[in-house]
Amino acid sequence: MNAIVYTTNTGSTKRYAELLARETGLPAYSMAEAERSVPTGAEIIYLGWIMAGSVKGYAAAKRWSVRAVCAVGMGRTGTQTDSVRKKSAIPASIPVFTLQGNFDVKKLRGVYRLMMELMVKTAGKSLAAKPDRTPEEDDMLDMMLHGGQRVGIENLRAVLDWYGAQKERRETP
Ligand SMILES: Cc1cc2nc3c(=O)[nH]c(=O)nc-3n(C[C@H](O)[C@H](O)[C@H](O)COP(=O)(O)O)c2cc1C
Repeated sequence: MNAIVYTTNTGSTKRYAELLARETGLPAYSMAEAERSVPTGAEIIYLGWIMAGSVKGYAAAKRWSVRAVCAVGMGRTGTQTDSVRKKSAIPASIPVFTLQGNFDVKKLRGVYRLMMELMVKTAGKSLAAKPDRTPEEDDMLDMMLHGGQRVGIENLRAVLDWYGAQKERRETP
């Protein structure tokens, strides 16, 4: 594995890339930095934020050999993996990890802000009216209404376990 490459809008994905870099010792680059300094075909872990169900920047990341994808969204860590894989057409051979990031409508600009204001009004309203919300839905509603900071090292456990297993496999003769 050569590098970590990420695409962020409000900073959560960058923070996860930095935490992953600290834990693995791999260098982390934004997409723009990586396009300058990571050679085409190098092995990378790609991190992108989730927009309308798909992973931002995944198509551009295919110039490298993507070994795993971390998709940062507002849903709980480990949920919506199958739908994200499907929407971004990520092959079954590449593991997908979803990570819960931060969300704050006030931090958004332009069309993203309009989209999420609308989402909070529509999806937020129907969630608020739902009598039998699951703990995940309660968390999502709280994020929508009050914003939330959910980036944490504990969310990287599955990615780090996968990374450790890869290293072990390569190092075992
Ligand atoms: C326009 C827009 C669409 C979004 N769509 C989704 C989505 O489909 N699923 C999801 O889990 N999060 C969605 N989010 C939430 C972001 O993925 C989440 O806030 C994430 O932490 C952003 O990462 P960043 O801080 O690196 O930009 C959306 C956010 C915006 C602004």
